[in-house]
Amino acid sequence: MEVLQAIMTRRSIRKFTGEVITEEQLNILLRAGFQAPSAHNTQPWHFIVAKDKELLQKISDFHKYAKMLPNAGCGIIVCGDEEKQGNRGFLVEDCSAAIQNILLAAHGVGLGAVWCGLYDSGNLVESMKEVLELPNNIIPIGMVVVGNKDEERNISERYDESKIHYNKW
Ligand SMILES: Cc1cc2nc3c(=O)[nH]c(=O)nc-3n(C[C@H](O)[C@H](O)[C@H](O)COP(=O)(O)O)c2cc1C
Repeated sequence: MEVLQAIMTRRSIRKFTGEVITEEQLNILLRAGFQAPSAHNTQPWHFIVAKDKELLQKISDFHKYAKMLPNAGCGIIVCGDEEKQGNRGFLVEDCSAAIQNILLAAHGVGLGAVWCGLYDSGNLVESMKEVLELPNNIIPIGMVVVGNKDEERNISERYDESKIHYNKW
């Protein structure tokens, strides 16, 4: 899919067939994540691929907006390494860029995906650290829930002239 088409037509998909994505598809998504820009090119990300059914259930038990996870069959938890990027703002931005790349790549190969927020929301970071046994310097930023889609969603037109400012507010 052409890049602008992917950007303009991507929507969050929350209904999945239950069929798990292939290793080849997963590899495309991970490669897209790694290609994201990062401040000072520190590439502070790690990607935790969650496929184990029990683990998916555990995560959806504590994440009330990720109830679709077990049926998607795969979650990619994008984490930032504080030892690579000490500026928390940059760490979050870098990982968010990787998340968006993964979302677009998923859409590009015909899969459905949704970004499920982790940082910095309630106990989600702590719960995720515990369940994934993350070292202290690794901060979970967001999770991409991805799978074969069982819904189609219309394009949402968001262009808004009133939010564009030239040269000054
Ligand atoms: C930081 C962030 C956190 C989000 N967390 C969730 C979530 O936990 N669960 C969910 O279903 N969608 C989540 N979303 C998806 C948004 O609800 C969605 O992007 C928004 O409604 C716009 O719809 P679209 O993605 O179809 O364009 C999140 C999106 C962002 C950027």
